[in-house]
Amino acid sequence: MAYRIGVIAGDGIGPEVVAQGLKALRATGVTFEQHDFDLGAERYLKTGEVLPDAVLDDMRELDVVLLGAVGDPRVPPGVLERDLLLRLRFDLDLYVNLRPVKLPEGVPTPLAGKTADDIDMVVIRENAEGLYAGAGGVQGRGTAREVATQESINTRAGIDRVLEYAFDLAERRPRRHITLVHKTNVLVHAGDLWMRAFTEMGESNFPDVARDYVHVDAACLYFVTQPERFDVVVTENMFGDILTDLGAAIAGGMGLAASGNINPPRRAPSIFEPVHGSAPDIANKGWANPVACILSVAMLLEHLGEADAARRVNNAALRALGKLRATAGPEMGFTTDEIGDLIAEGIEGES
Ligand code: NAD
Ligand code: IPM
Ligand code: MN
Repeated sequence: MAYRIGVIAGDGIGPEVVAQGLKALRATGVTFEQHDFDLGAERYLKTGEVLPDAVLDDMRELDVVLLGAVGDPRVPPGVLERDLLLRLRFDLDLYVNLRPVKLPEGVPTPLAGKTADDIDMVVIRENAEGLYAGAGGVQGRGTAREVATQESINTRAGIDRVLEYAFDLAERRPRRHITLVHKTNVLVHAGDLWMRAFTEMGESNFPDVARDYVHVDAACLYFVTQPERFDVVVTENMFGDILTDLGAAIAGGMGLAASGNINPPRRAPSIFEPVHGSAPDIANKGWANPVACILSVAMLLEHLGEADAARRVNNAALRALGKLRATAGPEMGFTTDEIGDLIAEGIEGES
């Protein structure tokens, strides 16, 4: 049976990298029906529509979705980010954001003296609560007495479900190690809830998983000075957003970082996307590295249970990286499209 795969190419470099992701997907021979969604800046600017309810309902019927990136300088900040991307994450209840931070063998890292053995972790970012929930508001906008609040929402059930996913992942990795990242020394309400939930979940259900806790500021330090310290990292939404750009920076750059927005009980399609945004600064130049999108396709295949196809996509992407002179921009020595071709050929050549 053919998988029903939704595609939101989006804005900026989104369509450029998604075209390569789809090339890779086709090269695996896995059969799928492609459902394209023209969501993003162009549709918004033409019609005022961001994500019509009927479109979201159609999307619920799919098996998985591949997304490029959204965001456009012509659209006010937050319109596409909140009402499209975050609405998808929230309304489809994609409460786990799975973001591997793994330096491929042979790819340079800016961290002197560190190798692929040192940078191999998975960040599990809570993806449906925290500061992203949108709670708060503004009074007296534009006046001298203007007040803006942005509240962080943290529920025990929301924390427990993401912790369970993270602990379960840690238990299946060789090191069986998990680090909670928060800011319990300052965010005493939310931090205390996260800390108690973390300790109780570990003690009761995952006694074989070693637990550690690091404040988010120190975590930034250790990502740079001691990345080998981390195996599975679990954290709240905003800290996870920031930490994973840093994670991308140490693991080969934004052009390599892949992610999945996962609904673990599979009541809705999970969405796979590169960690990077629409990169308007390099759009339409052929300078975007499509590997982040192609590695997201590998994660998508893994999620579908197509482990062999996922392995072939991963291997071909890593082999292609070995041929690039840099991991982003014109310095790569190949265009976005050429890298996509190289990887697709690699997938076809490996059985
Ligand atoms: P960005 O990730 O788009 O770009 C950051 C930097 O990384 C830029 O210098 C860019 O050129 C570079 N870069 C990113 N992807 C690359 C790739 N594949 N190959 C080579 N270089 C790459 O972040 P930004 O500039 O802060 O945001 C731009 C827009 O994207 C904003 O509208 C933002 O809201 C949006 N955004 C969307 C997503 C998403 O859709 N998931 C994620 C992040 C940002
Ligand atoms: C990401 C992006 C999004 C986020 C934005 C575009 C809403 O930065 O996927 O990391 O903050 O989650
Ligand atoms: Mn981000």
